[in-house]
Amino acid sequence: MEQMDQKIMKKLAAKAAVETLVKSGMKLGLGTGSTALPAVRHIALLLSAGNLRDILAVPTSFQTSIECEKLGIPLFTLNSREIGGRLDLTIDGADEVDSRGRCIKGGGGALLLEKIAAYASAAYAIVIDESKCNETLGLKFPVPVEVVPEARIPVTLALEALGAEVVLREAIRKAGPVITDHGNILLDIKFRDVVDPSALETEINRIPGVVENGFFTRLAPEVFIAHADGKVEHRKQDARR
Ligand code: A5P
Repeated sequence: MEQMDQKIMKKLAAKAAVETLVKSGMKLGLGTGSTALPAVRHIALLLSAGNLRDILAVPTSFQTSIECEKLGIPLFTLNSREIGGRLDLTIDGADEVDSRGRCIKGGGGALLLEKIAAYASAAYAIVIDESKCNETLGLKFPVPVEVVPEARIPVTLALEALGAEVVLREAIRKAGPVITDHGNILLDIKFRDVVDPSALETEINRIPGVVENGFFTRLAPEVFIAHADGKVEHRKQDARR
């Protein structure tokens, strides 16, 4: 079979996750990014065809909210009475995933609500193409850390003390740093030596001024991986750590 382009692979993974896991009546967390959005669009398609109904959707970013508004998917927040702080399922993309389902997320800057939704969900699905599989998290793709702007320097020093190289994420069509959906800045960090992502997820969050970091290690996602031959692998993990 011909090799697929990455965009098609992302769509295949997204469609497989939606068709396998999404059921009528679910409270659904909707992720952010170029693989999560095709999942949102597929849900909209099933809703408009009448093959799915009564979905209560919670978006994880401005990007996803805007897409849902365009598609006519009614939106709620985790605080809405209809949602009550718990979701049945969240579907999201990732920047890197290891074979235990641990992830780096936040390449699109939306890690805060993504993490809140993930940890508030009974089930969690990650949709990726095969390029995102990596056994050593933290060396290649930077781990984003969302930080209160006033704490930029003290947090940078504390992250460096943990062995990280720290880069302030700069905006592209705006002067200065990226400002997140929640008014914070992002420090992208990388390590030279192999690290323990599970320990670092907790340790980084102990630094005063850190709002959240992009290691997602205590979940047990079902991972849908689209391969270049067009096949979608469905990996299940053991229970949450
Ligand atoms: C958004 O902040 C991220 O966590 C995305 O879920 C992640 O960057 C994956 O995005 P793509 O599917 O666009 O690669």
